[in-house]
Amino acid sequence: MSTSQPSRRRGALAQQRRDAVRRPARLLVGAVAAGATAALAFQATAASPPSAASGAAPARSAQELSLQDNNRAVLAEGRRTFRFDTFGDEAFWGDLLNLDAAIAGKANGGVGPGLSPRQALALGLKVDLAALPVTLRADIAAGKVNLNDPKVTLALLRLNSVVGVKGFFDARGNLRSVGIQCALCHSTVNDSFAPGIGTRRDGWANRDLNVGAIIGLSPNLQPVASLLHTNVATVHKVLNSWGPGKFDAQLFLDGKAFQPNGRSAASVLPPAFGLRGVNLVTTTGFGSMTYWNAFVANLEMHGQGTFFDTRLDNKQQFPIAAENRFGHTEARVDRITPKLGALQVYQLSLDAPKPPKGSFNAKAAARGKMLFSGKADCARCHVPPLFTEPGWNMHTPDKIGIDSFQADRSPTHMYRTSPLRGLWTHRKRGFYHDGRYADLHAVVRHYNSTFGLKLTSAQQDDLVQYLLSL
Ligand code: HEC
Ligand code: HEC
Repeated sequence: MSTSQPSRRRGALAQQRRDAVRRPARLLVGAVAAGATAALAFQATAASPPSAASGAAPARSAQELSLQDNNRAVLAEGRRTFRFDTFGDEAFWGDLLNLDAAIAGKANGGVGPGLSPRQALALGLKVDLAALPVTLRADIAAGKVNLNDPKVTLALLRLNSVVGVKGFFDARGNLRSVGIQCALCHSTVNDSFAPGIGTRRDGWANRDLNVGAIIGLSPNLQPVASLLHTNVATVHKVLNSWGPGKFDAQLFLDGKAFQPNGRSAASVLPPAFGLRGVNLVTTTGFGSMTYWNAFVANLEMHGQGTFFDTRLDNKQQFPIAAENRFGHTEARVDRITPKLGALQVYQLSLDAPKPPKGSFNAKAAARGKMLFSGKADCARCHVPPLFTEPGWNMHTPDKIGIDSFQADRSPTHMYRTSPLRGLWTHRKRGFYHDGRYADLHAVVRHYNSTFGLKLTSAQQDDLVQYLLSL
């Protein structure tokens, strides 16, 4: 969500916050104190270098060694930022929108019924198994933990185990605010313990996550309505139109919620892996990876930092952003800019995961590979092994045979050639920026007719098997 404000506007928002729901003291949640230790232990693990030193290497120069140490430290810092940093955005999600109150529920000092772990999992939120103490895992497995009780959600937050969501607790253990992290939309877990509970998979797109429904829990959406010059009921209508696996990163730039055909204007959540060597990122190529990281942390997550982009001053294209001077965002304390370097290094280190053995037909994929660079002519844009163009990886809408709606919401007015590695990890909610093609067969059919490729249906199948092998 983008409502980042220059400091002047933050004052007005803070006032709204003061006027918002005042909450009585929260109940102390049992099980939590024990968890705090485990959470600390987990943080310590996360801080350790992601890759082990390479065993029996011959004598290396002091310079080499210090370079290696430095690289490892930067990666570890970037991973910490990606997984755990809120950039101070709890001032928005918690303090202003009161999302924390909705999560806690009335019984725990918040408002409404609260959010139970079962409901949280149903909204696509994931739980990091590594953050759960062994005793708690055993209790969950034995059915001794009431997954319908919002108190348990608070305990899970206290353990720092909810991927991409951080709870802030006061000295008495009451939830006082909540913030979000990059991992919310760009990580999943491997479900090794139970559906939605397992080991973190950094960079995977969370296509189960219902961002709109989660934001919609907020008891105070008035600031969002005011920003968009509309009412709270309309904001709910828009949030409900997204559905799982989608988010509209441009809504708070231009206020456009629906495509001309009536479909939601939201984009599918993309993976954040496999981007090494890729020039422009986002489906409409807003900028480089580090450009977009700064954009997201400031304008979507509403962290506290600095962001410049005079392209957002264009009143016709970005009325909301221009009015609020989002392209000139400054915070008194910048909690984003110092983290951008390491964050980028970590993201670049995330390879697209290899497809599991047996998940595609290898012989058909080998035939598909020939077609990809031959008759189907895909490789003229999706250049292996990057699968996007080295250089300017952008195309006008007509060049790929689709409408210009989303391209026109970007300063580029173009679509970026998607890097294709790891497609098998995000088959839910469809392909292309808005998920318009339900599966890879539909994508291939689109190209077949747009480019008049005359692929037989067997050849189309082969091409799909190749795409699944990337
Ligand atoms: C609320 C969900 C959400 C959060 C939180 C989020 N992103 Fe994203 N991210 C998206 C969406 C949606 C897009 C696609 C935008 C588009 O293509 O227009 C995206 C795109 C990206 C891309 C471009 C991927 C590509 O293939 O071009 C990168 C890189 C990225 N995000 C990194 C981050 C980082 C780093 C953070 C934390 C600072 C973050 N995101 C936080 C939803 C999110
Ligand atoms: C003219 C350049 C161009 C050619 C040729 C091309 N593509 Fe694409 N491809 C793109 C662009 C641009 C996008 C992004 C479209 C969007 O997100 O709306 C894309 C998206 C895709 C996607 C969706 C990726 C995702 O994550 O949703 C797949 C799959 C794909 N292309 C496969 C192919 C195949 C297979 C061929 C050959 C039959 C091909 N492309 C030919 C430019 C091209």
